[in-house]
Amino acid sequence: MSSSDTSLDTQKKRGTHEEVVRVSTGVRELDEATEGGIPRGSWVVVTGEPGTGKSILCMHFAWAGLKARDPVVYVTTEAEFRDVIRQARQFGMDFESYSIFDISSSREPGETPQIVVIDIFGLLKVARQMSEEQGEAGGRRFAILDIQTLVAAIRESYRILGVLREGGKGVTRHVRLVIDSLSAFWADKPAMARKYSYELKVAIHRENVTAYLVSQYAMTTKSTFGFGLEHIADGVFHLWMEDVERVGEVRRYLIIKKLRMTNHYRKAFKVEIVPGQGIKLLAVEDRG
Ligand SMILES: Nc1ncnc2c1ncn2[C@@H]1O[C@H](COP(=O)(O)OP(=O)(O)OP(=O)(O)O)[C@@H](O)[C@H]1O
Ligand SMILES: [Mg+2]
Repeated sequence: MSSSDTSLDTQKKRGTHEEVVRVSTGVRELDEATEGGIPRGSWVVVTGEPGTGKSILCMHFAWAGLKARDPVVYVTTEAEFRDVIRQARQFGMDFESYSIFDISSSREPGETPQIVVIDIFGLLKVARQMSEEQGEAGGRRFAILDIQTLVAAIRESYRILGVLREGGKGVTRHVRLVIDSLSAFWADKPAMARKYSYELKVAIHRENVTAYLVSQYAMTTKSTFGFGLEHIADGVFHLWMEDVERVGEVRRYLIIKKLRMTNHYRKAFKVEIVPGQGIKLLAVEDRG
């Protein structure tokens, strides 16, 4: 112990540590690699090629939220939510044991749900409503995959969860947001990625919202599909796979490329996807 390690110093260290409230990722090794989880209020971008485990990583994050009694907003453009439920169940996460409200539902939620789901049908419903409202004023039409449609759907979810602050600015308690994937919103106009990500962050990001945003990774350009998302992110978890033709098997990896306010692990992990458990990370040195 050094002579400078007085009780005052120790207290200060503890003090600075306590300023950052950490949110569990739902993956034990990832929590350990991030000093206990991601800083509350972070926007973490999950990038990677198909089949590397991005969606499953999101399920763990949402599941950890439900267990911690955090309201969850889950946007899935890739699958219907019932497919998410089915996939998650294979890893021991039973989303149906919590109250789920699907935004495409025609009924109003009875009790306040713990998770609000926005899939393609939910976005379709919101886009139609917005177009009708605008239509009366001779305005524009909104598409399912318009960023404004997404923003409106997320705001509506906050309202349903009972966390939207009066005046619509901010949320009253900690919320977890998953968007799997965001690339879908600029698939046909990648040049807009940066503008759209920024718009989304301004409209949706609040101190009390911790988010996972999935971005597909274009192997050809070695960049996330449409630049932009990584720049607005507080954290980047990047996943990839070794060339299957060369190695003759699926070998997945994850690396924490950045995470603000965190002295995070800086080497790649090997990703195992284990039936009944989900994602397990192994230090690459452990590779058998
Ligand atoms: N029950 C299971 N047991 C073991 N591995 C599984 C199981 N279910 C899925 N997997 C693995 O997980 C992979 C899918 O992971 P995931 O859906 O998270 O990928 P992704 O990165 O989201 O892909 P995409 O970009 O296509 O959406 C499958 O290809 C399979 O290898
Ligand atoms: Mg996926």
